[in-house]
Amino acid sequence: MQEQFLQQVRRRRTFAIISHPDAGKTTLTEKLLLYGGAIRLAGSVKSRRAQKHAVSDWMEIEKQRGISVTSSVLQFDYDGYCINILDTPGHQDFSEDTYRTLMAADSAVMVIDCAKGVEAQTKKLFEVCKMRGIPIFTFVNKLDRAGKDPFELMEEIESVLGIQSYPMNWPIGTDGNFKGVYNRTKSQIEVFNEGKHGQTVVESVVGDVTDEVFKDLLGQGLHQQLMEEIELLDVAGDNFDLNKVLKGELTPVFFGSAMTNFGVRPFLEGFLEMTTPPVARISNQGEIDPETDNFTGFVFKIQANMNPAHRDRIAFIRICSGRFQKGMTVNHVRAKKPIKLAQPQQFLAQDRVVVEEAYPGDIIGVHDPGIFNIGDTLCQSNTKVEYEGIPVFAPEHFARVYAKDSMKRKQFVKGIEQISEEGAIQVFKRPHVGVEELLIGVVGVLQFEVLEYRLEKEYGVEIKMQSLPYRFIRWIQQENFDYDRFSLTMDSVLAEDREGKPVVLLENEWSIQKVEERNKGVVLKSISTKN
Ligand code: G4P
Repeated sequence: MQEQFLQQVRRRRTFAIISHPDAGKTTLTEKLLLYGGAIRLAGSVKSRRAQKHAVSDWMEIEKQRGISVTSSVLQFDYDGYCINILDTPGHQDFSEDTYRTLMAADSAVMVIDCAKGVEAQTKKLFEVCKMRGIPIFTFVNKLDRAGKDPFELMEEIESVLGIQSYPMNWPIGTDGNFKGVYNRTKSQIEVFNEGKHGQTVVESVVGDVTDEVFKDLLGQGLHQQLMEEIELLDVAGDNFDLNKVLKGELTPVFFGSAMTNFGVRPFLEGFLEMTTPPVARISNQGEIDPETDNFTGFVFKIQANMNPAHRDRIAFIRICSGRFQKGMTVNHVRAKKPIKLAQPQQFLAQDRVVVEEAYPGDIIGVHDPGIFNIGDTLCQSNTKVEYEGIPVFAPEHFARVYAKDSMKRKQFVKGIEQISEEGAIQVFKRPHVGVEELLIGVVGVLQFEVLEYRLEKEYGVEIKMQSLPYRFIRWIQQENFDYDRFSLTMDSVLAEDREGKPVVLLENEWSIQKVEERNKGVVLKSISTKN
């Protein structure tokens, strides 16, 4: 029994895919599922691309499909491994969701468009991975098109993201004349073959780099260039060091083209070989080993309207240790209550199934009647393990929000409260001001539209929203904080978050500096850790 449990834990690989929109995250996810046999024809995840359209469009899609188009979880088997892909929303306005999802992952795959290099959103998401110190694997995509010089790309990864990189393979012909890649581990060339419009699994032709046949195939010039580049990489590049990979200090880089399936399988296999099974996580009782018997997990995401017919809310739980069994009664540590997890669900490609048992690394979804908060720990009934909270990221847009009809105040407050529990918005209150007027902070402005839409459709409340000029928030850390003694600039304002922690909203970086200078001894933080 124990042996079977350990085997299950050790074959789990749980990762998130991050990218700037359009780099090819959806396409790569689709292709990974294809290789895992979870879908036969790629293209089924495609409608998720609708995320990039107007908010009302994707709301419609959510309704029609009866599922969420924000983050989801996909599980499939490949070569003895059990893989959990934590898919994240494509639209950058929902990046908060991505930040939280990264908290549940053991490693991350970063997709970069070879023509665009490291883009703004990649950089932001990368920072979160770095904060967690998880391994990061890079897939440079769209090699079938003309792109930047690969040396330039490597340099960009290192200088913009501040991480060492090690190319696992090396592209041949990046000026739109893509011929394939040189596999550095196996010293062989894998020849590009477009396949059937990228819809089925493609086998690439491989062979030794010194083989005469490749000279003919690549042409004398390209072959010569490749030989020189290989030498340069070997002499001048960083050395491969698995320990550094596992600490998130060095990223293995794979070049390929998700659309044409090229390089996807070598990437998947290389990734699976290097990345780890679920790792120990820090709790109030020290590190918790995933292989211990005691069940523990934490809520990293709450999603409403998974099924619009029932208006239900699902809490997503990342299992961190022990075996989970359907119907299990667990301890909800924050609420100090035992709860029975009766209908846990798991996600297999497009389907949702009731899960009988699950293991560390797995994600299960449980019905949430309003009892969960993001960051809550669940554990075996006789223990009180609590994991470190999930950081609350800094909103960048703020608005003052009122119900148009003051008679609807109750629904307004309830709607705001529930939507903020899901982490879709952050709510702030001015000290000494009632709940009639709330300040809402979001990371992306589309979240305001979602708020307006949902309050009207789900709670029957029309709202008025007045946009505010603040762009920065800082959580104030000071013992015995006194609102009246805090010195502000003209363009900043004090408020408190949902938990009553004091914050200051500011218009620009200059103000942050001034406020710091005027309030000596006060620490201003751009991230608040819950707990
Ligand atoms: P995202 O989730 O990161 O936002 O990106 P997504 O996979 O949706 O890909 C963005 C666009 O890039 C899509 O084109 C997709 O087909 C294309 N793409 C992805 N991988 C590759 C690749 O390896 N090579 C090339 N040439 N293109 C690639 P689109 O025009 O937006 O959509 P569609 O019309 O192809 O569906």
